[in-house]
Amino acid sequence: MKTIHVDLGDRSYPIFISSDLIASKTAQTLLADSIRGKQVMIVTNETIAPIYLKKVEQLLAHEYQVSSTILPDGESFKNLDTLNQIFTSLLESRHNRTTTLIALGGGVIGDMTGYAAASYQRGVDFIQIPTTLLAQVDSSVGGKTGVNHALGKNMIGAFKQPQSVIIDIDTLQTLDKRQFAAGMAEVIKYGLIWDSEFFKWIEDNIVQLVSRDPDTLQYAIAKSCEIKAAVVAEDETEKGLRAILNLGHTFGHAMETFGNYSTFLHGEAVAAGMVMATDLSERLGWLETGITDRLKKLNQQLNLPNSSPEGMDMDDYINYMSVDKKNLDSDIRLVLLMGLGKAIITTEYDKVVFESTLKDYCS
Ligand SMILES: NC(=O)c1ccc[n+]([C@@H]2O[C@H](COP(=O)([O-])OP(=O)(O)OC[C@H]3O[C@@H](n4cnc5c(N)ncnc54)[C@H](O)[C@@H]3O)[C@@H](O)[C@H]2O)c1
Ligand SMILES: [Zn+2]
Repeated sequence: MKTIHVDLGDRSYPIFISSDLIASKTAQTLLADSIRGKQVMIVTNETIAPIYLKKVEQLLAHEYQVSSTILPDGESFKNLDTLNQIFTSLLESRHNRTTTLIALGGGVIGDMTGYAAASYQRGVDFIQIPTTLLAQVDSSVGGKTGVNHALGKNMIGAFKQPQSVIIDIDTLQTLDKRQFAAGMAEVIKYGLIWDSEFFKWIEDNIVQLVSRDPDTLQYAIAKSCEIKAAVVAEDETEKGLRAILNLGHTFGHAMETFGNYSTFLHGEAVAAGMVMATDLSERLGWLETGITDRLKKLNQQLNLPNSSPEGMDMDDYINYMSVDKKNLDSDIRLVLLMGLGKAIITTEYDKVVFESTLKDYCS
């Protein structure tokens, strides 16, 4: 078992990472250590429930009043209506202020359950059992929770830290290939922005990672959580440093918006976006040449994209990236690299060079 401590004063919490965990005595003890009352509500979705729900219920049944809410699966259900289903079920089963919510699922379930916990009776405890690679290395660390609004993604939410995060690496064995690769994009991101040694380690171990070897995955997940935890500990509410976690995301969001969130998965857009960010950093002379090629090779091995969606052009980028959509020179804040493992957030880059990167990555 690997344990990572997220250091946030009185909101600090542990992340436990191991194989063979979700139905074990160890998990039972870890859960008991994090549950303060007698009531528990497990929140999951209809895809995950048939595979994992019984296992988690069985760990808790003899000790607590356990209820479960099974939500529909998908980002399109990450909204206030679905959130309300959680509140309804909590009220119907008479959960009080000492209840603990358990998020069993990917980032969608984690974000919604966290937000429900932040607001139910003005705040109750919650625990994360993330089951996608993205949720294990990204969304379950750092306390951002919330839902989407018709007018914008993640526009309604709160910062809410969990009591603990319990990661069973084996849950990744049932995850589909595309979702797994999308999570790997965020793992690679941590190497690029923070830790050149880790980037090299990923290159050396990519075959084992692709085949989801448990020991290799455990190291990659622990390292990723450690890096995200270090960034979040310095800047919990994103006043500055935390924005480096958005490497590739500004380009990526433009791709996601262009494709109406149906062409690329988030991680796929981030993968292609990181290629553009490293390319631009190299063209500006800030990053040693060769990193972009190394990143492209990793993406290829994971079947992640290295360029924009079909049909997307430079104007689409400018349009979706700009705050001021009419002014091409308006300041688009980008995370760029000053070296492998060294990220900066800046609007001070040559706009002509920026355009040449955009042109080269459009079809
Ligand atoms: N809070 C944060 O800091 C943060 C960070 C990054 C992303 N997010 C949010 O996370 C969400 C994306 O999360 P995601 O990529 O985990 O997507 P997701 O939660 O939609 O999960 C992806 C798919 O995999 C299925 N699934 C989950 N675990 C499985 C398993 N073990 N076996 C088989 N199928 C499984 C899900 O049912 C779903 O269909 C977005 O809403 C995003 O906004 C939040
Ligand atoms: Zn991301």
